[in-house]
Amino acid sequence: MSTARLSPTIPATLLTALERLLGPGGMRTDPADTAPFATDWRGLYRGRTPAVLRPATVAEVAACVRLAAEARVALVPQGGNTSMVGGAVPAEDGSELVLSLSRLTRVRALDPLDLTLTLEAGVTLKAAQEAAAAAGLWLPLSIASEGSAEIGGVLATNAGGNNTLRFGNARERVLGLEVVLADGSIWNGLRRLRKDNTGYCLRQIFVGSEGTLGIITAAVLRLEPEPAERAAAFVGLSTPEAALALLGRLQRHDAAALVAFEYMSAAGIALVLEQIPGTRLPLAASAPHYALMELASPRAGSGLAEGLETALADALEAGEITDAALAASEAQRAQFWKLREEHSEAQKRAGASVKNDISVPVPAIPELLRRGAAAARAIVPDVRVAPFGHLGDGNIHFNLVQPDGVTPEVFLAESEALMEAINEVVLSLDGSFSAEHGLGRLKPPMLARWRGEIELSLMRRIKAALDPDGLLNPGKVLPRVQS
Ligand code: MLT
Ligand code: ZN
Repeated sequence: MSTARLSPTIPATLLTALERLLGPGGMRTDPADTAPFATDWRGLYRGRTPAVLRPATVAEVAACVRLAAEARVALVPQGGNTSMVGGAVPAEDGSELVLSLSRLTRVRALDPLDLTLTLEAGVTLKAAQEAAAAAGLWLPLSIASEGSAEIGGVLATNAGGNNTLRFGNARERVLGLEVVLADGSIWNGLRRLRKDNTGYCLRQIFVGSEGTLGIITAAVLRLEPEPAERAAAFVGLSTPEAALALLGRLQRHDAAALVAFEYMSAAGIALVLEQIPGTRLPLAASAPHYALMELASPRAGSGLAEGLETALADALEAGEITDAALAASEAQRAQFWKLREEHSEAQKRAGASVKNDISVPVPAIPELLRRGAAAARAIVPDVRVAPFGHLGDGNIHFNLVQPDGVTPEVFLAESEALMEAINEVVLSLDGSFSAEHGLGRLKPPMLARWRGEIELSLMRRIKAALDPDGLLNPGKVLPRVQS
């Protein structure tokens, strides 16, 4: 272990004790190995850490936390490191240790009668979906980064994604949690009861707390029966109002089966087609707006595809859609989803972007799209306004991509002004400045204005009660108190 670059705030005795605890392979200290854990997916933050701790068991997680707490050293819990808001990166001064949960990969139990899955924090969301599917069950939680995002982070950030309109956010899937607390004790709350009114609902305090109150090491998730039938369609629309009309039509048609309704703008799709090899528009002509919808049912022979086709024919006649493609095979359904899921990657390849993960009441979406675009263009006239996202639940990723011909630095110099301009519109529409990505390091300064002093003070009191020394993921969620 090289000690040459150690921050003076991390005692060498702590690192020696951690190394002894975790053994070979359990701790990384070489800067070349730690760098990927200290940088976020977007490349917005480049932190530094003297060590990445990689415990292999819950007992080791607890022992790491205890040792760090005794030495008053802060820990940054990390899963798949897919945060869009810098939620899992350590500070630049090298004063924090990264605690990776990625080696906790056990699926502990699956109960097909109870419809529950008990698994550890480091299981990727995709692996969790596959474990459910292998038993003929469904974990209806789906996000673009599911191949890398891990259950601990998915729950710590209360991830949302594509199925929220039907099944809710990660929070709604959680029946029980196991959490390592700030003093290194282990709270075993792995209950799997649907009814359990026995005081404060502690698990929900940790869900969405972004690792600032405790470290989630395992969870019990609710599953659903696996769909026996699915039907998906990709459509073109002339206006955002038409997208709302179509959403309403599909809800009236079969609200129980409608599991996703995603929006894509012309600019968003253009970037995907330009940047992602192997993608193509499944429609005869391009349109100003697009939507991807999916229906699913556990009942075989429920006629989902036929029903969707009829609903879309009616929508075409009513002038709600300009064109539609129904997925004729599983491969085609996957192609439709690729057009939607590659939006972030395509935008990253096109240069710098300013992400506004916001939500508004569903009826306000057309106004959001129009006023948001105008507000952004008033600051950067040729910005690529490429909103997309989960229209069915009101969560739009109002992403703004740099124009061609400027450097990312020049564009990002406007990022605060652009975020503020979009937020003004969102605030006037009774929306939220963070729908599903959380606050991380990017958004704590916005919290007081949006949630108000009383809520901020309640949050600070919860933090002080559960992490009195402020050693869990400092600087995330809550704004730092100026001294
Ligand atoms: C997605 O839904 O693809 C992500 O949450 C997106 C993003 O803001 O880039
Ligand atoms: Zn999203």
